[in-house]
Amino acid sequence: MSSNYYTPVISVKSLLLNKPTRVWLNDIPIVLIKTQSKITAFEDFCPHRGLALSEGFFYDNQLHCKYHGWSFSIGSGENTFVPVKNNKVSCKLKPIHVIEKYEQIWLSTQPEALIPELNPNKAHIYITGKINAEMTHVLENFLEGSHTHYVHNGLVRTKNKKRNEINAKLIQTTSGFTVTYQSEPAKGLLTQILPKKYRSLKPVSTYLHSGVAILTYINHEQKEVARFEAILSNKEEYIHYSARVYMHIGPLGFFLKPFARFLFKRIIEQDKNILELQQQNLRLFNVKKFVTDDTDMVGKYIYAWQNAKNHELPNEVTFNVYW
Ligand code: FES
Ligand SMILES: [Fe+2]
Repeated sequence: MSSNYYTPVISVKSLLLNKPTRVWLNDIPIVLIKTQSKITAFEDFCPHRGLALSEGFFYDNQLHCKYHGWSFSIGSGENTFVPVKNNKVSCKLKPIHVIEKYEQIWLSTQPEALIPELNPNKAHIYITGKINAEMTHVLENFLEGSHTHYVHNGLVRTKNKKRNEINAKLIQTTSGFTVTYQSEPAKGLLTQILPKKYRSLKPVSTYLHSGVAILTYINHEQKEVARFEAILSNKEEYIHYSARVYMHIGPLGFFLKPFARFLFKRIIEQDKNILELQQQNLRLFNVKKFVTDDTDMVGKYIYAWQNAKNHELPNEVTFNVYW
């Protein structure tokens, strides 16, 4: 995975104050420390004998290793004390760059790395949780529509309704790709509850490297009616998600909010169930190759981006799906 992008690792609200916490930056374990004034990150490795510093303690602005008690300043990362020596030694923890944005903590080994552009405003609905599945599959599930007729039958789209041929266009950008679909009539409860003027919407799916998926719905005036942002991070066998939802349907949005939150939670639950079933079976069959055809572009590009092979694919492609 490229390191030129900041990686989301945890939502700010789930990080406890003054408690060293392990997170993962791609495959590297990182220790995070949140104090009243800032958030600091280092590789989660004590230079003495390699214990995880996240197992240790934080006080007096220093991280203390649980094994032999070495201490490190969280300002500089330098060793400040070795108890058996009653003095310090010259060594330093490896610092990691931290940005706090969009209710998330983002990390990178390079300070000039890019951070995705998301909606800067507080989400109307904010839902967090975790799914026992792999990143590529969660991203694909969020961004592609062909499962919605089955997994969200009646809610997002409907299994037994006649399908429409929808034209789609995928364009790669420097930080991911966007797929713009033709408008389609409302086919599920989620859009059918809206006034008529919002019932024919154009879905746009965006992937931003390395863990962001965005789905927007645009009306005939090219206005954004709804926006769903998923910020995903990897932690051991789980993908932790923060879903940020925005609804631009006027005052109606205010009244619909509790109902909408209920529906989105239900939709996420359905996705979680199917993704965990998929993961269980993938563990039984050690298969890494799937059948992919040209209606399957979203998955194809996600796999390519996640494996740094996106440059091998065309920058623009059009395809049709029957939704
Ligand atoms: S391993 Fe950390 S103090 Fe020895
Ligand atoms: Fe879904």
